[in-house]
Amino acid sequence: SQVQDMQAGKVKAAKNMAFVFDIDGVLVHGDRLIPEGKMVLDMLNGDNELGIKIPHIFLTNGSGKPELPRCQQLSHILHNPVSTDQFIQSHTPMRALAEYYNTVLVVGGEGYRCRDVAEEYGFKDIVVPNDIVAWDTTVAPYRVFTEEERASSRPRDFTQCNIDAILVFSDSRDYATDMQIIMDLLRSENGRYGTVAKDPVSQRIPIYFSQGDMLCPTEHPIPRMSQGAFRIGLEAMYKALTGVDLERVVYGKPETATYKYADEVIASWMDTIHGEERIPENVYMIGDNPASDIVGGNMYGWNTCLVRTGVFQGGENDEENPANFGVFKNVLEAVKAACRKQL
Ligand code: G3P
Ligand code: MG
Repeated sequence: SQVQDMQAGKVKAAKNMAFVFDIDGVLVHGDRLIPEGKMVLDMLNGDNELGIKIPHIFLTNGSGKPELPRCQQLSHILHNPVSTDQFIQSHTPMRALAEYYNTVLVVGGEGYRCRDVAEEYGFKDIVVPNDIVAWDTTVAPYRVFTEEERASSRPRDFTQCNIDAILVFSDSRDYATDMQIIMDLLRSENGRYGTVAKDPVSQRIPIYFSQGDMLCPTEHPIPRMSQGAFRIGLEAMYKALTGVDLERVVYGKPETATYKYADEVIASWMDTIHGEERIPENVYMIGDNPASDIVGGNMYGWNTCLVRTGVFQGGENDEENPANFGVFKNVLEAVKAACRKQL
């Protein structure tokens, strides 16, 4: 019948779309649920007129803990399952670096959690700044090093080993110590503590940053500085001390490598939901930050939706990086509009 044909057409169209969600400022604020976030996931997980699942993945510049505990925490907040197979945080693609570097300095995050992240990614020999301070407190002259920190650190003689790469996984909790240690290593001969290279470029070890956001919305009324600000500070210091520009690699939104990675995750998640490993024709990115979510999605050819529940506080659309599908009050309005258009 006509009704059945129409229904079949809608199902076909639904199987040709997928959503990519930013997390902070779209689905949650920190640990607090944005109610429309739960409603949207209920809908995409099957509570809709077609009674089918619509694939969606999560693409966040968040960081600082392994994927599994973060997904468990999000499942709890959102009252919907979030699988690690549909989840990308800023440092997730950095897993691939584990096969290239043996000893790495991992910077940022709370306590020693980023050490856990790196271990989970398969890095073999992981150093964190506290291990270096525990070995020689004069490295960080203004640092007050607690007994608790000392007990949980893993000091060794860092003049006897090379650090092969620096990986900034998350926000620095101590700019002074972390910047000093990173600068020491960037200026050293091949990552050997206690040396200063004659040529700043040829013996310099590589440095990677998990994301480049300048600002991050928090409980504070004005957004706080994030990893991008830390990086720019480091670059300026490095240039002033050595006279040369610091080459570095940045992951996360809006870097293309991260969107390519997201495509692979979408294709395999399509396989999980629909039994077909492919990228659907209509991908919708829903984000709150024009400078990362929207500019990246626009460059990558996705449909972009900007919501008013996070960083964006502007007028009709963002002036520099306008969302190409539109600006919406919240994530539910955005997803409803996309479904109206496609189905
Ligand atoms: O800026 C870091 C982080 O909080 C951003 O998260 O989910 O908005 O990409 P998200
Ligand atoms: Mg966001």
